[in-house]
Parts: sequence; structure tokens; C-alpha cells
Amino acid sequence: MNFEIYEMNLKDYDKIYQLWEMSEDIELSQADSYSGIEKFLKRNPSMSFVAWKNGEIAGAVLCGNDGRRGYIHHLMVHPDYRHQGLGRSLVGRCLYALTRIGIQKCHLFIFEDNKDGMDFWESLGWTERVKLTMMSQELD
Ligand SMILES: CC(C)(COP(=O)(O)OP(=O)(O)OC[C@H]1O[C@@H](n2cnc3c(N)ncnc32)[C@H](O)[C@@H]1OP(=O)(O)O)[C@@H](O)C(=O)NCCC(=O)NCCS
Repeated sequence: MNFEIYEMNLKDYDKIYQLWEMSEDIELSQADSYSGIEKFLKRNPSMSFVAWKNGEIAGAVLCGNDGRRGYIHHLMVHPDYRHQGLGRSLVGRCLYALTRIGIQKCHLFIFEDNKDGMDFWESLGWTERVKLTMMSQELD
């Protein structure tokens, strides 16, 4: 099935957010508010994408970098459009955008119980970093 894939545009924020909300495997926070995504897209231009089918949103992904490594967040394909290569396509766009600016490695965060997600990433050649864990701190 053919999808139209475009750079993410803030005018579609509500639809994108509703798509992300459909998955328990995507954790949304204040960083995903309208202004949060606006800031992210300004800081990381031309790296995040949205896929469309017949005017309906079919998938979305955020991609950014810190000048050293790339990061993919919130990859989501609508349940109606899964297993048609769309996830792979969206990730491909992100990785191409990163390589174009000289980024040589990309990371992502995934819940450890997201078995389907892990299988997906492994099928694309990503490997789990078993010796690493994530640590975080809230900043006010
Ligand atoms: C993970 C997700 C993005 C995959 O999207 P998709 O469009 O269905 O994936 P693709 O069709 O591009 O699949 C590419 C390959 O991944 C593998 N794959 C995809 N979904 C899989 C699943 N549920 N189980 C096992 N392997 C899977 C397959 O090998 C597939 O290749 P193939 O079709 O040639 O066999 C989608 O299931 C999703 O949105 N899940 C909910 C949100 C989520 O978990 N996001 C990731 C957070 S890190």
C-alpha cells in the first residue's frame, strides 16, 4: 500500500497526538505538548515525519539529534496500517536525515515489555544495549 510521507508539520499536531495516544507503548508527557513539539521541530528541522493515507494519518515519528547522536521517539503506525512496511519506511527517512548531517549512530528508548516493538527494531538491524540502563531526573 502506498503512503504519502511528509515532514512533520505543527498544523497536524492534534491528529499526531491522537495517534500517539492510541498506543500504550508510547508514553506522553509535558514534552509532547504543542509548545514542546514546536520547540523540538525547530531544534531538529526536517527529521520528523508523518505518513498519510487518503487524508487520514497513518503513522508518525519524531527524530532529533544533539549534534553527536541521533534519537528516535514515538514511532507509531496506526493499527489499520501495520505490517505494510510503513514503520520501516518512517525509520528509513529518519536515519537518512541523520546521516545527511553526519550523525553516525542513533538511539531509541523502548519499554522492556514491548515485545512487538523489540521484534520490529531487531528486524531492522537494531540491537539491544544489555549493559546500559536509563537514568532520569526531573528538572523544574
Ligand atoms: C512497531 C511498529 C511501529 C511497526 O510498524 P509497522 O509499520 O507495522 O512495521 P513494518 O511493517 O515496517 O515492519 C517491518 C518489519 O518489522 C517486523 N515487525 C513489524 N511488526 C512486528 C511484530 N508485531 N512482531 C514481529 N515483527 C514485527 C517484521 O519483520 C517486518 O518486516 P516484514 O514485514 O518484512 O516481515 C507498530 O507496530 C507500532 O506502531 N506499534 C505501537 C507503537 C510502538 O511500539 N512503537 C515503537 C516504540 S519504540
